Amino acid sequence: MQTKKVIVGNWKMYKTIGESVAFVEKLLPIANRSTSQVMLAVPFTALERTATAARGSQLLIGAQNMHDAPEGAFTGEISAKMIVDAGGRFVLLGHSERRALFHESDDFINRKVKSALAAGLRPILCVGESLQEHESGRSQAVVEAQLKGSLAGISADQLHQLMVAYEPVWAIGTGKTATPAIAQAMHHQIRQQVGSIKILYGGSVKPENVKELLEQQDIDGVLVGGASLSLDSFVKIVDYRANCKT
Ligand code: PGA
Repeated sequence: MQTKKVIVGNWKMYKTIGESVAFVEKLLPIANRSTSQVMLAVPFTALERTATAARGSQLLIGAQNMHDAPEGAFTGEISAKMIVDAGGRFVLLGHSERRALFHESDDFINRKVKSALAAGLRPILCVGESLQEHESGRSQAVVEAQLKGSLAGISADQLHQLMVAYEPVWAIGTGKTATPAIAQAMHHQIRQQVGSIKILYGGSVKPENVKELLEQQDIDGVLVGGASLSLDSFVKIVDYRANCKT
């Protein structure tokens, strides 16, 4: 039996509440009849309204970040409990934009993973090497270290609540996708570290390349940024089996 592929949209800092709800309403019938698990990481402001619109459907709504503390004097931050309260079911953690622009360390991300799990929120842990690390042949070591640091103290049982997304930084928003072979090789390495959990690929995923990526043995799904912003291209990705030339 084929296991369900996972298609996650990451909207980053795009879309108002109205735009988000209108998108979700149109996506719902497609997500409901899809053989894949469809998920959307929306801006915090749109979380509650989109989660309400998606309630009872196959579409899962989640957040793009959180703080590790359950509550406290952290101006501008959001906790796992608040995301759950708003209807969020999962959270992206350690996205490369958070690591690079907001200086998030593996240690901080590790604390967030633990807090998300404690609150019943499913973490999608993002890892990936920079262009410089890629060009100097350090990709494997960098990803291995990120996983080790971000997953320190996580039990085998807890690991099964989690997904990992491999996103080579040089492929994010650049139009340069890792070739399916490069992606598969890294996914295979990640598989040795995390076992049978879902491992997603991210970085310039588009309707034109999604099928070949998802055909790789260790690619269980995709994390889609730019191409998840338009309903047309996101639906083509969700319906990748029907829409791609073979
Ligand atoms: P992209 O972004 O699809 O626009 O490259 C992916 C991501 O950052 O999750």
